[in-house]
Amino acid sequence: MASQSYRAGLFWSQLVRCTTLGQTRTHPGRYLSSLHPPPPDSWTSQLSLLPHQDLYRLSVTDPDRFWGSAAADRLHWVEPFQQVQDCDLSRGRINWFLGGKLNVSGECLDRHAKTEPSRTRLILVRDLCSSPVCPSIRELLETTCRLANTLKSHGIHKGDRLAIYMPVSPLAVAAMLACARIGAVHTVVFAGFSSDALAGRIQDAQCKAVITCNQGVRGGRLIELKATVDAAVKNCPSVQHVFVSQRTENPTMMGKLDIPLEEVMSSESAVCPPESLDSEDLLFLLYTSGSTGKPKGLVHTQAGYLLYSSMTHQYVFDYRDGDVFGCVADIGWITGHSYVVYGPLCNGATTVLFESTPVYPNPGRYWEMVERLRINQFYGAPTALRLLLKYDESWVKKYDRSSLRTLGSVGEPINHEAWHWFHSVVGEGRCPLVDTWWQTETGGICIAPRPAEDEAPIVPSMAMRPFYGIQPIIIGDQGEVLSRPSVSGALCISQPWPGMARSINGNHQRFIDTYFTPYPGYYFTGDGAVLSEDGFYQITGRIDDVINISGHRLGTAEIEDALDEHPAVPETAVVGIPHEIKGEVPFAFVVLKDDVSVNPTTVLQQLRELVSTKIAKYAVPEHFLVVKRLPKTRSGKIMRRILRKVAMETTCDLGDVSTLDDPSVIAEIVESLEQYRKQRETK
Ligand code: WTA
Repeated sequence: MASQSYRAGLFWSQLVRCTTLGQTRTHPGRYLSSLHPPPPDSWTSQLSLLPHQDLYRLSVTDPDRFWGSAAADRLHWVEPFQQVQDCDLSRGRINWFLGGKLNVSGECLDRHAKTEPSRTRLILVRDLCSSPVCPSIRELLETTCRLANTLKSHGIHKGDRLAIYMPVSPLAVAAMLACARIGAVHTVVFAGFSSDALAGRIQDAQCKAVITCNQGVRGGRLIELKATVDAAVKNCPSVQHVFVSQRTENPTMMGKLDIPLEEVMSSESAVCPPESLDSEDLLFLLYTSGSTGKPKGLVHTQAGYLLYSSMTHQYVFDYRDGDVFGCVADIGWITGHSYVVYGPLCNGATTVLFESTPVYPNPGRYWEMVERLRINQFYGAPTALRLLLKYDESWVKKYDRSSLRTLGSVGEPINHEAWHWFHSVVGEGRCPLVDTWWQTETGGICIAPRPAEDEAPIVPSMAMRPFYGIQPIIIGDQGEVLSRPSVSGALCISQPWPGMARSINGNHQRFIDTYFTPYPGYYFTGDGAVLSEDGFYQITGRIDDVINISGHRLGTAEIEDALDEHPAVPETAVVGIPHEIKGEVPFAFVVLKDDVSVNPTTVLQQLRELVSTKIAKYAVPEHFLVVKRLPKTRSGKIMRRILRKVAMETTCDLGDVSTLDDPSVIAEIVESLEQYRKQRETK
């Protein structure tokens, strides 16, 4: 068995001819000794040393061979898979590694605990700059097992859903892995979401329990997490238990659902055998915004997701064994799932958990952390970079950044100024900067340079190249495939890949309608893209009604829904406009009831509060403009395209307005906007 798995390891490293993880391919230990060797040579033989261009070609021309080999070699199967894939994009049917069984927490923990139990794999950087907390992999495994046993003792089993409403911390990571260990499905909810938003997610997922903290601490401020959970679960009859971890010393009011987490965990065993799970059993749900309707709970499953997140982590960031990987995303977003938790831990990386903000207590925070922890890869968001570049360069330069090898950006298009600042000031011009394009739906990075393999220099502000197995395609207005360079169109992907979402929780038809119906046979991303003359991809941004505020996706319809709940507001329209730091901000056009008792100032204040309680603070529109009516087509559709132009003051180029019911509405709105701007200037 050992020789067969070794052969597989050798095969893969030869195949890709670049850095390997340096892991031994023996299978020691109880969990591992029950594992099957990789499937017979049919998956892994015959392919010889290939240059990466050929490897990419192979990954799209013979995906079964490519992904089958990768899965056999990189993951440890309790039972081998029988079929690489069974997918039909037009029906939204996506299955990978059929018949295979494994356990994701076993891959992330046990495997590495056996080989190097005392090595640190998590580093928590707390809000206040005290010494970082560095649990070893053995400690993380024990915490995960205690937590998994706690869940089981409270009647939570395979297939049950749990909400995790916690800021990033070792315990939050253990909570995700504990779910994975017993086959429960986690849905992490960003700890900045309101109680209504949390309740909506808990109800949709039918969560049996919530794991939270008494309070959070961020940027020196306390966040009342438990109070938010209390308000949310009042309307969630499915919730039987609320596990409360004590993050701060402040006393917590415990209600009848509440269970003190650390206390109950301490009496549980530190051993919990991982469940053997099917490749396609659910791993997690993660809610994200679309252009219509409520946030959708995207379904991700076990093996394909893990394989894809770990491979992209290795190849895009040039991760090498022993590196310290610093992704500053929160675990409430997909970036935190794939590149703080699952990808790095599967690869045996030491992964950084950053609890604070880029400017607390000062704008040198990130770089002080890089120096102290000797971080090798730093992965962050353009919005933070745009904020930091406003400060003096000395905030960066006073710290030693010589450990950095790769820089990465994610969440929104990175503008040239931020790209160059990151590359030359932070990276001293010597670290490749990878602009990584992907989505909650894609599970992992889909388009990005791969610096270890790229002979061509990286082009600033371009995601550039598809990852293995990803075949992007750009489609024009008439549904035609655009093969000429420099023409922008809708970005689609023409072949399935293992990391992609499998469904929308409780609504598979919506999954099909959203992603596979607009361009039949293709996965539609919702983004626009251009192919350059050199054959590289540049992402131009969303082409639907989704906006991107500081890298956080939000549907304008969600904000409108919240605003429309106000009794004095018959109608609203929200559009996104550019913002220097946040990338985009919402701009709300509000029609008020024609009623003397309505005081606009009071209503607008109430609208702000409404969005904050229904969604989250970051969703509150930056601008509110009261208008008499909205521009509509003859069939009654609001023309948001026109409103966006008005808000951006580009009315000289309104495009086709012939379908407007009454074109005089534009002049009316422009006049209101002028008054609004004057008022703001005089304030
Ligand atoms: C946008 C975040 C340009 C895009 C991982 C996408 C980007 C949405 C980039 C997904 C990038 C993400 N360049 N745009 N490098 N990365 N986006 O689901 O519009 O939170 O569709 O996933 O962010 O956001 P999500």
